[in-house]
This record gives sequence, structure tokens and C-alpha cells, in this order.
Amino acid sequence: MAEVKKIAVIAGDGIGPEVVGEAIKVIKKIEELYEHRFEFEHGLFGGVAIDEKGTPLPQETLDMCQKADAVLLGAVGGPKWDNNSKELRPETGLLGIRKALGLFSNIRPATVFDCLKDASTLKPEVLEGTDLIVVRELTGGIYFGEKFRREGEHGQEAVDTCVYNVQEVERIVRQAFDIAMTRGKRLASVDKANVLETSRLWREVVNRIAPEYPEVELEHVLVDNCAMQLLRRPSSFDVIVTENMFGDILSDEAAMLTGSIGMLSSASLGEGSFGLYEPVHGSAPDIAGQGISNPIATILSVALMFRLTFGYHEAAQAIEDAVKEVLDAGHRTGDIAVDKSTAIGTEAMGDLIVGAIRKAS
Ligand code: NAI
Ligand code: MG
Repeated sequence: MAEVKKIAVIAGDGIGPEVVGEAIKVIKKIEELYEHRFEFEHGLFGGVAIDEKGTPLPQETLDMCQKADAVLLGAVGGPKWDNNSKELRPETGLLGIRKALGLFSNIRPATVFDCLKDASTLKPEVLEGTDLIVVRELTGGIYFGEKFRREGEHGQEAVDTCVYNVQEVERIVRQAFDIAMTRGKRLASVDKANVLETSRLWREVVNRIAPEYPEVELEHVLVDNCAMQLLRRPSSFDVIVTENMFGDILSDEAAMLTGSIGMLSSASLGEGSFGLYEPVHGSAPDIAGQGISNPIATILSVALMFRLTFGYHEAAQAIEDAVKEVLDAGHRTGDIAVDKSTAIGTEAMGDLIVGAIRKAS
């Protein structure tokens, strides 16, 4: 009997439950075709949790996530809670859950589907073959360093400090090498080692760990050059690993290679194989409840979960192939349709993808 993997499901607000519903259909189809077995537990999170439990992250939801092998998150937030105090805002739950689960990296793939190349603002020939992942450090760097104001010679000054320790760099760099091993075996470590001391430490650590991964081809890229190369030759990248602020900027830049927010998946990882998986988009209150949201970002997040947490590479590939097949056949939700009158709804898209999943023979 196959080992049962526990998936904690926190669908959240707005289109969260719609897109998560389609992703669960996909997981159930994988169960039918493969030996993999899953158990789902559902918890309240975000705005719905505020309404029902008086907090965006109830203790029982957190306990459930901590006991699970992976978490599948929809999205949280909406105008209903926008004027709440900080403790009663859905986003406070997001920060809280990442912290409580010890998630220190954010992983964002940018895969260009050939048939959607015209949805991007870049030329199709530049995008050809683009399939990369940005691994961003989440817990250190300038966002968390000491900050203060002081009186200087020319009036008020503001200071932000950037701090990284060896252990923080090691764990994210190892994770990035591990991810590179599951893909194209190329890693670009992005820093600003010509100017920043934290970057020099970063580069030392990367060079020290690299011999543990002799199969991975490593390059060091300065962040300004990386920003240019992402637009000039995006297909030359496989895995990019970088510190918090550089990763914040580069992951948004990379995301835009693909055209639509409804297509972008993400993972947040901690120690070991545990991870939280979610679409990059938010709760889209403008289209919530209409059944027209694109479930592909969430479905591709499941494929990412299968690869990074469970090591189910064949099943992940089957999902990604099914998405590609349905898109190649011309099916589109409104966000990616050129002719909006031909757009299909959330459930129809989910059903088509489920129907296209096949077991590799
Ligand atoms: P959003 O990503 O929810 O929506 C931006 C635009 O993209 C909207 O026009 C929306 O209709 C469209 N869109 C997003 N996902 C789509 C999908 N799957 N299919 C089709 N169209 C899609 O970002 P926005 O409007 O800035 O934020 C809305 C709410 O979501 C806010 O309360 C915000 O705080 C929250 N949010 C939550 C996140 C999370 O749960 N991780 C991340 C980002 C925003
Ligand atoms: Mg950002």
C-alpha cells in the first residue's frame, strides 16, 4: 500500500475556493492513475477565518498545516477586510503562517507556453524555450536588518542594514542546487559581489558548496546584468538563486515573461521537503463567484508540490503536459483569451485538464 501524503488545504477568500477546487480534482485524477495516495484536511484561513473565528490564522489551522506533508493555499483578502486593524487583516495571516512554518525560500517558476507567447510583451523569438525558476531567500537581508533614523551633518538620515549569516546562505543555496538537480542542472547565483560585503559572503558560500554538486553547472551573475539577461536571453536560465531584495525584484520581472498572472505558480519551502504551494495571484474580488477565474496557476502549483515535496516527477509531468495540451488545443479562460467571447469558465478548464491527464507508459 502506497504511503498516504497529507495535504492541508486552506482555500481562503475570493477565487481561492474556486481555483483550489479544480486543483483537488487534478490530484484525485492522479490518485486514479498512479499509486500515489493523498488525504485532504481543510482549514479556515484569511478573511473567512476572521469572520468565523476572529483571527486570520486560527490555531487549529496552523496545527493542521504543521501535521501535514504539504499545504495547498488559494488566496486571501478582499475589500470587506481592507479597513480592519492589522491583527484582523487577512495578509497578517499570510505572514504569520510563513513564519510559523519556518518557510525561508520562495520559489517561482516562469514557464512560457509556446501557444501563449503572444500574451507577453516580449517578442516570441526571445521567449522561445523559456523555463526557469527563481529561488528567493525570504528571511534575511535588508528587509530584516536594523533600521533607524539619525541626525547627520546635512539633516535627517535614514539607515537600512543588510545582514546575512553563513547558515542562512547555506540552506537556501543547498536548496537551489537540489532543485537544479531535478531540472536542467544549471544554477545562476545572483549577487552584487563587486560592491556588497553580504554578496561576497554569499559567493564564498556558493563556491564552497558547489563541489558537492559536480553535475550542476554554476555561474555567478551580477544582479544588474541578470535583470538585463532576463529580457535578452531568458531561455538561457534554469535555476536562479538570490537574496531577498534582489529576488523580490527579479521574480516579478521573470513573472512578466509569461504574460498572465493566472498562470503563475509558487512554492515556499523550509527545512526538509515540507512546502506551502499557492498561485502567485490574489483573491481577485473583481471576478470572484462568477466561475471565470483561471485555475491553471493553482494546478501548476500542485505539479510543483509533486516535484519539490513528494518527488512524484512523473505525475508532475503528466499535469504539466495536460495543461500544455489543453492550451495547445486553443482553450482559454478570459484572462488569457484574445477573443473574450470564446473564453471558458473555471470548471470547464479544470475538467479539460483532468481529462487530458494520462499516465506515462
Ligand atoms: P489579484 O491577483 O487578486 O488580481 C489582480 C488582477 O488579476 C485582477 O483583475 C484579477 O481579476 C486578475 N486575476 C488574478 N488571478 C486571476 C485568475 N486566476 N484568473 C483570472 N484573472 C485573475 O490582485 P489584487 O487585485 O491586487 O488583490 C486582490 C486581493 O488579493 C487583495 O485583498 C490582496 O491583498 C489579495 N492578495 C492576496 C495574495 C495571496 O493570498 N497570496 C497575493 C496578492 C494579493
Ligand atoms: Mg514583489
